[in-house]
Amino acid sequence: MKMKNNFYITTAIDYPSGKPHIGHAYEKILADTIARWQRSRKKNVFFLTGTDEHGQKIEKYAKQDNKSPGEFVAAMTAEFISLCKILKISNDDFIRTTEKRHINVALVILKKAMAKGDIYKDKYEGYYCVDCECFYLERDLIEGKCAVHQKPADWIEEQGYFFRMSKYQQKVLDHIINNEDFIFPKTRRNEIINRIKEGVRDLSVSRSNFSWGIPFPEDKDHVVFVWFDALINYVSGIGYPDSQRFKDFWPADIHLIGKDILWFHTMVWMAILMSADLELPKAIFVHGFINLQGEKISKSSGVSVDPAQLIEKYGADSLRYFLLREMSFGEDGNFSEQALIRRINSDLANDLGNLVHRSATMIEKYVQGKIPLRRMGNEPVNLLGFAENLGKVVDGQMEIYNFSQALIKIWEVINLANKFIEDTKPWVLFKENKQEEVSDFIFILSFVINQVQENLGPFMPITADKIYQQFASGCVKKQEPLFPRIEDAH
Ligand code: ME8
Ligand code: MG
Repeated sequence: MKMKNNFYITTAIDYPSGKPHIGHAYEKILADTIARWQRSRKKNVFFLTGTDEHGQKIEKYAKQDNKSPGEFVAAMTAEFISLCKILKISNDDFIRTTEKRHINVALVILKKAMAKGDIYKDKYEGYYCVDCECFYLERDLIEGKCAVHQKPADWIEEQGYFFRMSKYQQKVLDHIINNEDFIFPKTRRNEIINRIKEGVRDLSVSRSNFSWGIPFPEDKDHVVFVWFDALINYVSGIGYPDSQRFKDFWPADIHLIGKDILWFHTMVWMAILMSADLELPKAIFVHGFINLQGEKISKSSGVSVDPAQLIEKYGADSLRYFLLREMSFGEDGNFSEQALIRRINSDLANDLGNLVHRSATMIEKYVQGKIPLRRMGNEPVNLLGFAENLGKVVDGQMEIYNFSQALIKIWEVINLANKFIEDTKPWVLFKENKQEEVSDFIFILSFVINQVQENLGPFMPITADKIYQQFASGCVKKQEPLFPRIEDAH
């Protein structure tokens, strides 16, 4: 039985059909911030991410690269793992769908569906977009092209196996309607309710025109459709059916995904789980898309911003801060390097970096790095009150997954602290030898910085560590500025 304190969060598993792009980075940053925040609230978190390595799309991009699919995914997945490392993503495991532990579970679940009579053979005709790995109806296409990639869909006619998804239509619909918080945000919930009401067709779950996939049970000519395979990572990754981890953590608390794969994570995944008599996840969280000058970024469209390069230039926490601060959860947003530089210079170098640097400098100079004890007296009620309450305020925003507003609240305290320094003019007090006033000032300042440090942790773990190193040792020691100003080259 899952214990109340256990919290299981997943991201989508990425197609390693090319290097990771900024959309992948964004999703991992969101999930990581939630995972770290839940850990800070003493939850026992399991955080899973990984790569989706089978299918026609991978086979196609491997061929373009003159590699075997196996070699190709090994090289590309290394890039995704490396991105997790440099972004300080605190995932507890990384699942690859080509791993034996996954393939075995995918087959167990498929065979369960077969035993239930939920799989049958029939002829399939329809349009297929390889880049989406998805079947479309003619009415979904725009002049024969898929709306996501603007590439022509292929007409496919083949014998194959179908999953009786239509059988679960009403049950899935009822579940979504009866559980208001199942799909977040609400706009996505309405979208999926309408789509299910339009009617659900059975899902083709095998393919025979290529071979890079899990061999279909008892039929060598077919491989398992990549989406049926991929969704199962959420249970294979925690050791379904027998491991203690599975018992401790399933059902998932949050499946975090982008808006383009909502259908698969609601209608398709719920039907698979119902067929396998498994409990349903508690919530599907749907984030928006990052656009680059209004265009969609993806490996297949060619438009890309390499997150590894951005991190190399500006640091992981700068990118984390920018995306969490500028994007509003659930909505699309724009990315530009110039906007990133602007945020670094104003919020990070100026507000936060300056506060930390000048505070450490003053503490070294005025009290030899030793933070004095609290002396009650004329404290700035406003600043101290805000700082004392910051944890509660940030939690309040995080409970509704308003990352941006949580950061704004932290920055209000940072800016009040900077103003407190200007107003108090400790350099005057020091010169006039007002030692007690200087002590009070230092005490308050370091208290506020500690509050800021603690609350920043889930969003900017590297920076929070650096502040901790400088301030929490009992003897404050100034270090290099946290964020050097960037001269805008544009
Ligand atoms: O869909 N902005 O993989 P994927 C924000 N393998 N998020 C974006 C984005 C963008 N520009 N582009 C993509 C797949 N994403 C499947 C998932 S899960 C069982 C299988 C998000 O590499 C996208 O919405 O195309 C998805 O959540 C994730 O990145 C992986 O996309
Ligand atoms: Mg995609």
